[in-house]
Amino acid sequence: MIRDKGCGEIKETDIGSVKTLTGWVFRRRDHGGLIFIDLRDRSGLCQVVFSPEVSGDAHEKAHALRAEYVIAVSGEIRRRPEGTENPGLPTGMTEMYVRELEVLNEASPLPYSMEEAADAGEALRLKHRYLDLRRPEMQKNLLLRHRVTKVTRDFLDERGFLEIETPMLTKSTPEGARDYLVPSRMNPGHFYALPQSPQLFKQILMVAGMERYFQIVKCFRDEDLRADRQPEFTQIDLEMSFVDRDEVISLIEGMMQKLFREVLNIDVEPSFQRLSFSESMERFGNDKPDMRFGLELKDMADLAGKGTFKVFLDALQSGGMVKALNGKGMAGISRKEIDLLTAEAQAFGAKGLAWIKVKNGFDSPIAKFFPEDVLKAMAERLQAEEGDMMLFVADKPKVVYDVLSRMRLELGRKLNLIQEGYKFVWITDFPLLEWDAEEERFQAMHHPFTSPFDEDVEKMLAGDVSDKDMLSSLKAKAYDIVLNGYEIGGGSIRIHNQKVQKKMFELLNISDEEARMKFGFLLDALQFGAPPHGGIALGLDRLVMLMAGATSIRDVIAFPKTQKAFCMMSAAPSTVETKQLRELHIKTDVPVE
Ligand code: AMO
Ligand code: AMP
Repeated sequence: MIRDKGCGEIKETDIGSVKTLTGWVFRRRDHGGLIFIDLRDRSGLCQVVFSPEVSGDAHEKAHALRAEYVIAVSGEIRRRPEGTENPGLPTGMTEMYVRELEVLNEASPLPYSMEEAADAGEALRLKHRYLDLRRPEMQKNLLLRHRVTKVTRDFLDERGFLEIETPMLTKSTPEGARDYLVPSRMNPGHFYALPQSPQLFKQILMVAGMERYFQIVKCFRDEDLRADRQPEFTQIDLEMSFVDRDEVISLIEGMMQKLFREVLNIDVEPSFQRLSFSESMERFGNDKPDMRFGLELKDMADLAGKGTFKVFLDALQSGGMVKALNGKGMAGISRKEIDLLTAEAQAFGAKGLAWIKVKNGFDSPIAKFFPEDVLKAMAERLQAEEGDMMLFVADKPKVVYDVLSRMRLELGRKLNLIQEGYKFVWITDFPLLEWDAEEERFQAMHHPFTSPFDEDVEKMLAGDVSDKDMLSSLKAKAYDIVLNGYEIGGGSIRIHNQKVQKKMFELLNISDEEARMKFGFLLDALQFGAPPHGGIALGLDRLVMLMAGATSIRDVIAFPKTQKAFCMMSAAPSTVETKQLRELHIKTDVPVE
């Protein structure tokens, strides 16, 4: 039997006709005389009815049907009897009365019920991913992902971008994570690295005169995993010649408009707000602010300095800061709830959480350390009114930013301040270099191929690693795009001058020898007429996650890995045969099972 239509495509206009449908047995209800089955395929559900009056043979066979059997049925489409319609279902006005049933395949008893699949443990769902992906929500997510890549390809094609593949067996590209290595059988003791991104190759494609490149490409990073991080993930990666920052930015704004319009039927703003890195840190405590709500951080150093609270004074004296948030309407919370909040702040890294309730004056164990006019000035700065609670953290800047940015999100959620919808923001003007106190050396804030501001190039070339303050003040032509508190992309205008690139490596304490070994091919290319160029990479998984309203990128990846970078379904990684290791000239300390 070949099907006529998808199960979800049966319409009232089909009433009276005989159709053939195929699919999986989703729900089965045996009402004595009649057997009802919700038949499911990718297009949706259709109710099919087995009645002994229509076909004794089909009705008899239907007794044996179990969950997820694959069947073909044909029969007449009828209007459902009055009172039994299901307006919640697109096919809810109709049902099929089966004349013929063919079992195409049986299914073993399921590890969990498909109806309660959403409640089954994630480990179990990942192990049986083929069942998990049968769920309409998951199919919807993968369909959306397909739409996003399709529209992206069309958008870039219309603008003259060429999709060009770059190698997977390659050299390490520094994007800040550990590499996945692949041993070379032909070259004993030598390893390829799986690309953390196609960064070097896309720059070389610009030197090669391709002018506009893109690729929807897998990247591999061996790092600690989170809900928005997978060891292999996908980038919409692109690079352009003869452009500046604004052209890359407006290209991506156009792409987002088209994507949201064509995939979600939503109009996003024609151009997105921009915040400098330092403003983002000051106001939100991080460089990926969720702009759907306020609750901004305020600097309290001057006012804190006018009191006698030792915690604040000590922090300020040792080069730290005091910043605060307004817990809107939180003055009513109990001591116990405050303890919980404090514990949360401590879990985020704070030593404590100081609070002042605005409630019949100022109510707080630390109010006594401040003159009334200072307390009033604090409340004014935070726009704290009667019923609010001011929350303070005093510490080293990194801790204050980290804790308060997380508290801001936490409170935004708890206090229901986060509006529905999509808010994009560009973060720009990043520092070029970041001092790594632990390793006592500079790191590239974005990556080592990012160009300094034009006005900073001379200073940079003249600089020496000992000019820590000067070097820390250099700005980079880098930009990140942030959506609803997630970094969904990052890029920069690149260094196209070999002299500047060499200097960059020198400042990063990468020796000539190391630079030659790791990036020699890029340095070589840069001396043969490299055009000015720049680009960006969007995290496709994160973008689709947000568009799908999902909370983990695992929900928009067909075959994701767990927190431990393990594939529950295929059980990778696994041990290999000793023979394979021998061929690769590899010995391990771990006994091979
Ligand atoms: P970057 O390292 O910022 O830039 O990566 C670009 C975007 O990729 C996404 N992303 C991830 N998504 C899921 N899991 C991960 N482990 C993961 N890591 C990154 C993020 C991020 O914004 N070569 C540069 C781009 C350029 O300069 O053009 C790069 O890779 O959304
Ligand atoms: P203590 O002096 O340790 O009893 O702390 C008094 C109050 O200040 C408590 O509410 C602490 O949670 C809070 N506190 C302690 N350390 C800090 C800090 N670094 N920043 C903000 N508040 C703090």
